Amino acid sequence: MATYQHAEAILHVENVGVAYGEKQIIEHITFTEKDVLRPDVVQGQTIAFVGRSGRGKSTLFRSLAGLEQPTQGEVMISDLQAPIKEGENPPLRKVREGDVGFVSQNYVLFRHKTIQQAMEFAMRKQSLPAAEKDKKITQYLKDWGLYAVRHQYPNELSGGQRQRTAILEQVLSSTNYIILDEPFSGLDVGNIQNAINAFRLINQSHELATIIFCTHDIDLAVEMADSLYVLGYPTNADGTLHPVGTLVKHFDLKTRGLAWKDHFSPEHKALVEEIKEAILAS
Ligand SMILES: Nc1ncnc2c1ncn2[C@@H]1O[C@H](COP(=O)(O)OP(=O)(O)OP(=O)(O)O)[C@@H](O)[C@H]1O
Ligand SMILES: [Mg+2]
Repeated sequence: MATYQHAEAILHVENVGVAYGEKQIIEHITFTEKDVLRPDVVQGQTIAFVGRSGRGKSTLFRSLAGLEQPTQGEVMISDLQAPIKEGENPPLRKVREGDVGFVSQNYVLFRHKTIQQAMEFAMRKQSLPAAEKDKKITQYLKDWGLYAVRHQYPNELSGGQRQRTAILEQVLSSTNYIILDEPFSGLDVGNIQNAINAFRLINQSHELATIIFCTHDIDLAVEMADSLYVLGYPTNADGTLHPVGTLVKHFDLKTRGLAWKDHFSPEHKALVEEIKEAILAS
């Protein structure tokens, strides 16, 4: 089993709820994710959310990204700008819009920018020499099957090409957190593999690199995540479901020895079934 230690919290969500008018969509969402330290490996966190359609994943994600102020509770992330001493972890502060890279389920692209221009714009704040930036962009575009269409505008792209562009924009511009709302839907098997590889690389680029995503593909969630939450409706005492989304189950793949594996084992498969049961029951 992989050995690891927990360090400081990197994400703390305290009693978050969101209501639209009278209608409570999600409530009582509380969880903490900690930096995980693995000997001799730089490894950020990968956190997956799964659950049936309409349970509030996208709603929660907008709050996690600071795009929407939750009606109740708060979302705290590591303050990477805070002055800290060598070897110390940054303190937590309330998330603000722009802290976190966000790829929405209804991804939006700059209509007046070609893919190439969008990538250059995404990297504008990085202090790399122009030639290095260009090399990096070219490599990503090739890996993600976008190189041939790099001079085309969003209205000249397929849905999958637009989605990959939206993800890459965040990959290239993000600091430490990337939140992806169903990043795999609409991608073909090759694109999915490229996306998985890219997320692994991001994850291993920085000790605090954090990827948060949701998906309806439970196999993929189990393959990628080291921590997985089921967002669903909790069960009332009389056996009926209470129709407000909350975290009904947490699966820690690290404690199960299933995180960071190259192979999808029978234990992974068994976990997929366990997760599906939890989803169906909520
Ligand atoms: N702006 C809004 N005003 C009112 N209700 C909303 C609004 N946005 C979302 N909802 C409702 O909140 C609930 C949760 O929606 P949300 O998009 O978060 O679900 P989801 O889990 O992401 O679903 P899916 O898996 O289909 O993407 C739905 O019932 C939806 O109709
Ligand atoms: Mg959604």
